[in-house]
Amino acid sequence: MIEIKDLEVMTIGDMEKKYPFVLSFLENNKLDTTNFKETTFNDYLEQFHPDEFEELALDKEQIKKNLVVFVNQMLSFLGMDKDTVESITILPGVDKNGKRENFDELTINKSEIISIVGPTGSGKSRLLADIEWAANKDTPTMRTLLVNGEIPDHGNRFSTSNKMVAQLSQNMNFVMDLSVREFLELHAQSRMVENPGEVIQRIVEAANELAGEKFDMDTPVTGLSGGQSRALMIADTAILSTSPIVLIDEIENAGIDRKRALNLLVNEEKIVLMATHDPSLALIADKRIIIKNGGIHKIIETDENEKVILKDLEQMDLIINEMRARLRSGETLEKID
Ligand SMILES: Nc1ncnc2c1ncn2[C@@H]1O[C@H](COP(=O)(O)OP(=O)(O)O)[C@@H](O)[C@H]1O
Ligand SMILES: [Mg+2]
Repeated sequence: MIEIKDLEVMTIGDMEKKYPFVLSFLENNKLDTTNFKETTFNDYLEQFHPDEFEELALDKEQIKKNLVVFVNQMLSFLGMDKDTVESITILPGVDKNGKRENFDELTINKSEIISIVGPTGSGKSRLLADIEWAANKDTPTMRTLLVNGEIPDHGNRFSTSNKMVAQLSQNMNFVMDLSVREFLELHAQSRMVENPGEVIQRIVEAANELAGEKFDMDTPVTGLSGGQSRALMIADTAILSTSPIVLIDEIENAGIDRKRALNLLVNEEKIVLMATHDPSLALIADKRIIIKNGGIHKIIETDENEKVILKDLEQMDLIINEMRARLRSGETLEKID
C-alpha cells in the first residue's frame, strides 16, 4: 500500500519500477514524466504553472489522491497488497532423529542473502520447501515459519507459491508446448506489464547472457537444454517476479553463469536463500546455514577474513571458466604462471 506522503519521497523512476502500472495512470492523465524520473511526483507537480492545471482541468491534490487510490487498487487487484515482507523467521524443529535443532530462532531481513550448505541428502532442499510452504509444524522437520514476526494467515499461505515466493528448483519441467515468446507472453500478461514486447526481449537477452548456448524467441520451451531453461526461469524471475522472497536450489549444476544469475536475482528489496555446494556462492552470502542430518546445525556469519578469501576464490573461478571455455572450443591448454 502507498500513501500520499510517499509521493514526497519516492522518485517517479522508482515508482514506475515498483508499480509498472502507474505508467498507464500518467498517460491517461496526460502527465508526461519522461524527463522527471529522478524527481518525486510531488516536485513534478510543483513545476506546473497553476494555469496549466486549469487547462488540463486538473487539481494537484486530487491528482495525488487519485494516483494513490489507483496504485492501491491495482496492488490489491494483483494480489500484491500483502507483499511487504520485511523479514522471515525460522523457528526450530527437529532433525532426522527427532532431536531439536541447534538454534533458537533465525530472522532474515529484506536485502539479506543466506546460503545453505551441507552434504547431499542433509536437508537443504527441505529447508527451502519449508519456507516456500510457510511451514507451521506440519512438515517432516516440524519447523515454523513467521513472516514479519507472525504466522502468515491462511489466505497468504496458500498464495505462497505464486506470490510470496519465487522458487528456482533443480528440475524445470515445461509441460506446455509453447515457444519461448508465447511462454513469456503468458507470464507478462498475468503480471499486467505495460510493454510486454520490450520486457520479453529483455528477459531473453538476460537469459542468453546466462546460458552458454543461445536460443531465440521461437525456440519451443520443450526444446531448451537444462541450462537454457534454467537461465530462462532465472531471467524471468528477476525481471517479472514481484515476489519478495527468492529461493534458489543449487544453481551451479545448471550450466549457467551462476555469479551473473545471482546478481540478476539479488536486489535490495528481496530476501534470498540459496542452497549451494559452491564455495564462492556460499561466501557471497551474509550468513550461511549449515545443515546436518536434516537439522540446522550452525549459522555462521561471513566475516572480513572470508570476504578476502572470497576474492581469491572468484579469481580461481575465472581461471576455471576460461579453461573450460577453451577446452570446449577445442583448444589445448598451456600452463599459466
Ligand atoms: N528434519 C528432517 N526430518 C525428516 N526428514 C527430513 C528432514 N530434513 C530432510 N528430510 C528428508 O531428507 C531427504 C533429503 O533431504 P533434501 O532436502 O532433499 O537434501 P539435500 O537438498 O540437502 O540434498 C528428503 O526426503 C527430506 O524430506
Ligand atoms: Mg537438494
